Amino acid sequence: MGIAIIGAGNVGMALGQALTRRGETVVFGVPEPQKYEAAVAALGDRARLTGTAEAIAGADLVILAVPHAATAGIAQGVADWQGKVLVDATNPLAPGLAGLTLGTTTSGAEVLAQQARGARVVKAFNSTGAENMADAAYAGGLPMMPVCGDDADARQRVMALATLIGFEAVDMGPLMAARYLEPFAMTWIHLAFRQGFGRRFAFGLLRRG
Ligand SMILES: NC(=O)c1ccc[n+]([C@@H]2O[C@H](COP(=O)([O-])OP(=O)(O)OC[C@H]3O[C@@H](n4cnc5c(N)ncnc54)[C@H](OP(=O)(O)O)[C@@H]3O)[C@@H](O)[C@H]2O)c1
Repeated sequence: MGIAIIGAGNVGMALGQALTRRGETVVFGVPEPQKYEAAVAALGDRARLTGTAEAIAGADLVILAVPHAATAGIAQGVADWQGKVLVDATNPLAPGLAGLTLGTTTSGAEVLAQQARGARVVKAFNSTGAENMADAAYAGGLPMMPVCGDDADARQRVMALATLIGFEAVDMGPLMAARYLEPFAMTWIHLAFRQGFGRRFAFGLLRRG
C-alpha cells in the first residue's frame, strides 16, 4: 500500500514529481489514463498510472488533486475508506478565481470528511502554487506548508511528506483549521493574479528565539 494521487494536472504532477524524486512511489488515478501516459512516463519508474478506483484501492494515503467539484463523487464512490489518509489539496474556488464557494463556518475539507466514510481527512498542499510543490527551494528559507486534520497520526504522516519535498510543515491542528487554510490559498491566488506578484513566490514563517 502506498501513495495514490488522484488527478494528474498541475498539482498532481507537481507532487508526483517532487515525491518520486525523493524516492517515493506514486500511483496516479484519473478517469482517462491514456491522456496522461506520456507525462507520467516522464516521471520514471516510481510513477504508475491507472483508473481512479484502482489507484485508491491500492493506496493507504490518497491525495486529491482534482477540481473541487469532483471531490464529492470521488469521496462517495468508495463505500468505506477503511482508515486511509485522504489528503485534500483542493480549494472550493468560485469560477474565475473570484473567491471561495463556502467557508467561515465550514470548509471544503470538513464537507469532504462527511462524504468520505471512514477516511482520515487531512488538509494540505492547497495553500501555495503548484510550482512550489514541484520545487520548494527558495534562497530565503523554507516555504511553509500548513497541515490540519483530526487524526494526529495521519497529520504527522502528511507533514512528513511535506517536509520530504522541502517545506517547513506547520501543524495547524484539527481539520476545522481548513476554514483558515482555504482562504489562505486565496491570499496566494490574490497576490499572484490580482496584485501582479506572478507565481514565483511562497509564504514562510519567521520566528524569534
Ligand atoms: N494549480 C495550483 O497552483 C493549485 C495550488 C493549490 C491547490 N490547487 C487546487 O488543486 C486542485 C487541482 O488543481 P490543478 O491546477 O492541478 O487542476 P488541473 O490542472 O485542472 O488538474 C485536475 C486533474 O484532475 C483530474 N480529474 C478531474 N475530474 C476527476 C475525477 N472525477 N476523478 C479523477 N480525476 C479527475 C483531471 O483529469 P482530466 O484532465 O481528465 O479532466 C486532471 O488530471 C484544485 O482543487 C485547485 O483548486 C491548485
